[in-house]
Amino acid sequence: MDQITKHYTKGDLTIVWKPDQCTHSRLCWTGLKDVFDPRKRPWVNMDGAEADLIMQQVAKCPSGALSYVLHTAETTTEGAGETTTETTTAVEVAKNGPLMVYGNLTVKDSNGGEIKKSKVTAFCRCGASANKPFCDGSHVRIGFRDE
Ligand code: FES
Repeated sequence: MDQITKHYTKGDLTIVWKPDQCTHSRLCWTGLKDVFDPRKRPWVNMDGAEADLIMQQVAKCPSGALSYVLHTAETTTEGAGETTTETTTAVEVAKNGPLMVYGNLTVKDSNGGEIKKSKVTAFCRCGASANKPFCDGSHVRIGFRDE
């Protein structure tokens, strides 16, 4: 399945948005609402804050749907989900939500294909995702509860 990827650029900073990976944690727009506002189009306003604040907020994205690329004259640095080199893996059950796996992963799909994931990967626990095995935020729509 082709995944949608959108880019928002100002100066040296490009925010990369992969909506299919979003788990709707709401951290982005509750944390920096002058930049991330889902009621507006485009929903990312690169003029809403300084680049360092935007990068800090993107780094808090638990699903890896948001990441950034910082371009300089000599190098390109990717962050928040693109170049993490963690060597340990941690698993967390999100309350009323997905199974969060922290670390670099290779996910083999049922057709033998491989998908590389880094930083954080959210796996569906509710069974309603249209992008299995990954969470697509459908747990919110169906009102999934742990108990
Ligand atoms: S847990 Fe998020 S879509 Fe199923």
